[in-house]
Amino acid sequence: MKRVLVSGGAGFIGSHVTVELIEAGYDVLVADDMSNCDLTCYEGVKKITGRDDLPFVKMSFCDMEATDKLFSEWKIDAVIHFAAFKAVGESVSDPLKYYGNNLQSFINVLEAAKAHGCRNVLFSSSATVYGEPEELPVTEKSPRQPSTSPYGNTKQICEDILRDSVAAYPQIRGIALRYFNPIGAHPSALIGELPRGVPNNLVPFITQTAIGRRECLSIFGDDYPTPDGTCQRDYIDIVDLARAHVCAVARMLDEKMEQEYEIFNVGTGRPLSVMELVNAFQKVNNLKLNYKIAPRRPGDVTAIWADPTLANEKLGWKATRTTEETLASAWAWEKHLAGK
Ligand code: UFG
Repeated sequence: MKRVLVSGGAGFIGSHVTVELIEAGYDVLVADDMSNCDLTCYEGVKKITGRDDLPFVKMSFCDMEATDKLFSEWKIDAVIHFAAFKAVGESVSDPLKYYGNNLQSFINVLEAAKAHGCRNVLFSSSATVYGEPEELPVTEKSPRQPSTSPYGNTKQICEDILRDSVAAYPQIRGIALRYFNPIGAHPSALIGELPRGVPNNLVPFITQTAIGRRECLSIFGDDYPTPDGTCQRDYIDIVDLARAHVCAVARMLDEKMEQEYEIFNVGTGRPLSVMELVNAFQKVNNLKLNYKIAPRRPGDVTAIWADPTLANEKLGWKATRTTEETLASAWAWEKHLAGK
């Protein structure tokens, strides 16, 4: 059985990916430094999969010695690298924390993969690399734009590190997946997003407002040049997103890659405005949300959505869950957290 290391595997995306990998028949090794999560999702993964023996190593990938030890003690066929900080605002106020952690941990993973015969490296990138796109939807060939935050910049730099490393070292090859806006939770409601403090992202803010933890959702701007004036995004269901990783890992392990470094957009191809999402949430969950229109949030792009054709064709992957199912799952998770 092939073993996949999931760095940052106790977090939101990592835990969903772990579930899908196990269900697809892979052995998974979870590693996380727990700097931005607790054991909730790891325990949830064990419950969902019935794998009470799921191996877990608490460690930081910034620690080269620990990283090297991990790769020498376990035979790892592929690594999916999630372990990174991700708060855009914090990255602006503390850039060294972001450059230090996000770059060093990835460099260490690549060093260890190269040294220990782990050929396959999957990097979790972001649609943020496209900035404010000139043409929509964006394909993988759309130009990357200068980043507006150190966080976004770490995603661009890590993509470049992977591209250059793959070109230089025949021992490794890589895939970068560019995620659009991942939302929702596993249908079991046993794992989901656990934002610390006030959520920055739209859907956690919505669910916390609906449950009464926040008073009112602010919709940041209704005067954008979009059909209803609010920003448009490509919201991708977390389980669909996780399945894309399984397809990408299989592509590497089954020797299906056409180039040593490949990039795929992971999105639905459907734009949804903030207002449309808020309305869909209210409708599917049959509740009324307290919201108001607020000024624009600095740094937001007007509209971005994916052309997912390449992933559809090459990975054999397609988003399948409807926005309604996804928003119902986000609400079920929030209620689960509240013990309701
Ligand atoms: N929004 C609100 N109110 C909120 C939160 C968000 O109206 O309380 C709006 C935003 O203005 C935006 C949309 O909801 O129009 C989506 O915002 P998110 O914060 O959920 O997501 P972003 O598109 O801003 O974030 C994504 C990724 C990040 C990435 C960022 C870069 O989630 O990882 O793009 O712009 F860094």
